[in-house]
Amino acid sequence: MSDEGATAVRGLGGRYRSALHDERTAALLGVALGVSFTLCFATGLWSHLQQDPPAWFSAPSRPAGLYRVTQGIHVTSGFAAIPLLLAKLWVVHPRLVEWPPARSVLHAIERLALLPLVGGGVFLLFSGVANVARWYPWTFFFPRAHFWAAWITIGGLVVHVGAKAATTRRVLRRSPPSSTPTPAAADRRGFLAGVAAASTALVVTTAGGTIAPLGTVSVLAQRRPGDGPQGLPVNKSAASARVTEIARDPAFRLVIDGAVDHPLALSLAELRAMPAREATLPIACVEGWSQSATWRGVPLRDLLALAGARPETATVTVESLQPSGRYRASELRDPDTLLALELGGEPLHIDHGFPTRLIGPNRPGVLQTKWVARLEVR
Ligand code: HEM
Repeated sequence: MSDEGATAVRGLGGRYRSALHDERTAALLGVALGVSFTLCFATGLWSHLQQDPPAWFSAPSRPAGLYRVTQGIHVTSGFAAIPLLLAKLWVVHPRLVEWPPARSVLHAIERLALLPLVGGGVFLLFSGVANVARWYPWTFFFPRAHFWAAWITIGGLVVHVGAKAATTRRVLRRSPPSSTPTPAAADRRGFLAGVAAASTALVVTTAGGTIAPLGTVSVLAQRRPGDGPQGLPVNKSAASARVTEIARDPAFRLVIDGAVDHPLALSLAELRAMPAREATLPIACVEGWSQSATWRGVPLRDLLALAGARPETATVTVESLQPSGRYRASELRDPDTLLALELGGEPLHIDHGFPTRLIGPNRPGVLQTKWVARLEVR
């Protein structure tokens, strides 16, 4: 296939005459897709480890904003990949209808790997965007499906990169003449510039959910800095979690039990009377938005010490008034892991977890349990 020729697709009898359907364009888009999918995969695995840690793993509590960065990269690289993937599929689509479909057993394997690669890639980007938009047109559990689809897609990507590495190296090494660009090279440049502009536009219009200076131009961001009660966005309100009444009950007690010497049941007044600590920490949501705030509350490790637990070895299950909210808190030792009572100098708004919520450094938002009612020590 000629790099500069007008008949760009081998084996299709000149039906596709645009030079854009050539190996060089496919390879350039492929490299960009390879980078964005690898970033997405690495940060996605990290997020999975943090949210659902296996017994051998405990996420570090510092740097405090690490999850904000990794999850911001995850969602941003996913958005950037959408125009890249659409462009790549358009560029190579003549190859997909090629006849015969396979020239050898190796070629058949290479082509079969396109099923998980293309199917998985489309599924990941579609389900990721739908999740950010909190639109769930499915019945499966999103994180599990997204996680396994990622492994399948990356498997397909590894086979594909192996199969196309030599072609990619060959066509990218041959640089087109720069002084007198041919019409084909100019077409390609214009096309790739359009794709890059579409990716950049998607990033800029969505990333303001986590990069505050982009807030005003991020018209597609689901949550923008400053939105929500007490100037902080909310994903799940007390009403949607059906805890409004029970959270406001004056008989509220925070229970600390399990592997402790003295089980406790503390009222809100007793919690407020304890020595408190202030920490500026972000809520970093799995859906890609994040915002820092100043929290004040009782360090979790002080509460555990009061109950006679051993913070060095204990793990704690943090139970919410919301029946389905149960997560293990792994970072007990950090002095800034608080049972927060205040946000920005005021009592917590009910949508931020009144009477008390967990807040700690480098934790996915979904682990910053709201409406905490019980700490079960193991
Ligand atoms: C999500 C990522 C990717 C998807 C969905 C994708 C998809 C595809 C598809 C469907 C084809 C047509 C294959 C055929 O019929 O034989 C193709 C071709 C190709 N891909 Fe990818 N690809 C991806 C990533 C990459 C990467 C990372 C590279 C390079 C490092 C790459 C380089 C190439 C090359 C050189 C071709 C050959 C084009 C031609 O012969 O005209 N791709 N890709």
